[in-house]
Amino acid sequence: MEKVELGWDEFWAEIIRVRHRQSIQGIDQYDKLVVSFIIEVLNLKKGNEILDIACGAGYQSIEFAKQGFKVTAFDIAQSLIEFAKRSAKDAKVDTNFYAGDMRDMSFKSQFKAAVMLSHSFGFFDHEMNKHVLKETYDALLEGGCLLLDLMNPYNLPKFQKTWTQLEEGFLLNEPHVLDAHAGVLIGRPAVFIDTEEDRLVLMDKDALSNNDTRVYTALEIREMLEEVGFSKVEFYGQHFLPRLPYASNSERMVVIAHR
Ligand SMILES: C[S@@+](CC[C@H](N)C(=O)[O-])C[C@H]1O[C@@H](n2cnc3c(N)ncnc32)[C@H](O)[C@@H]1O
Repeated sequence: MEKVELGWDEFWAEIIRVRHRQSIQGIDQYDKLVVSFIIEVLNLKKGNEILDIACGAGYQSIEFAKQGFKVTAFDIAQSLIEFAKRSAKDAKVDTNFYAGDMRDMSFKSQFKAAVMLSHSFGFFDHEMNKHVLKETYDALLEGGCLLLDLMNPYNLPKFQKTWTQLEEGFLLNEPHVLDAHAGVLIGRPAVFIDTEEDRLVLMDKDALSNNDTRVYTALEIREMLEEVGFSKVEFYGQHFLPRLPYASNSERMVVIAHR
């Protein structure tokens, strides 16, 4: 069998963020529940402008648009943005999707809310992570809010090695490993057995570099948010209603910060 190494955008983004995600039972319902939670906790009103940072394939952005919000959403993977644009067209909703890097946002006082969902924060070193928060602060209107949906560092998922059958083959996901000294969750390479093309697809350096995430405690994240100007930082323990207080054994650490 032929072996090829492919990058995040050229292959892995779609396999992981679209095909593997779509194989998860109840995932559409999950997106609706997450969006309902955000609308309620941020007290959003139809017509408000929302920024979805690292929107992946755009599932939650499209759900927001269906519910009457004006959505701008971006992701570093052009392939995901193309997928998101097609989905928005199929759903007959207006959205502004574009390919972009969260390190280079240049919005000024535009959005009522900004969201970073499914732990899409912490990809860089500490200073760059803080820079992303500052850029997000600048993007918000006075009185606007940021919502970060993060893994709970005190209750990380029990990552397992998994095999998933997709239409075109089999995906092997190696479990993430926590580097406890660095506070970084190290993403491990995935392998795809492409039965259609009769080849084994491995991650190249670029795809692997997309895999590591710095995990922050509530104290650390509050400090960073306050340093870049946010006030009134609140925490919840799950990203669905009802609102649950954040605790060490919470499923998630949802952070809300106000400008
Ligand atoms: C865990 S996924 C979450 C996607 C989406 N928010 C969701 O909930 O389905 C993280 C996303 O971050 C994107 N990403 C990684 N680095 C990025 C960057 N520098 N700027 C923008 N997006 C980035 C990846 O392409 C991926 O789609």
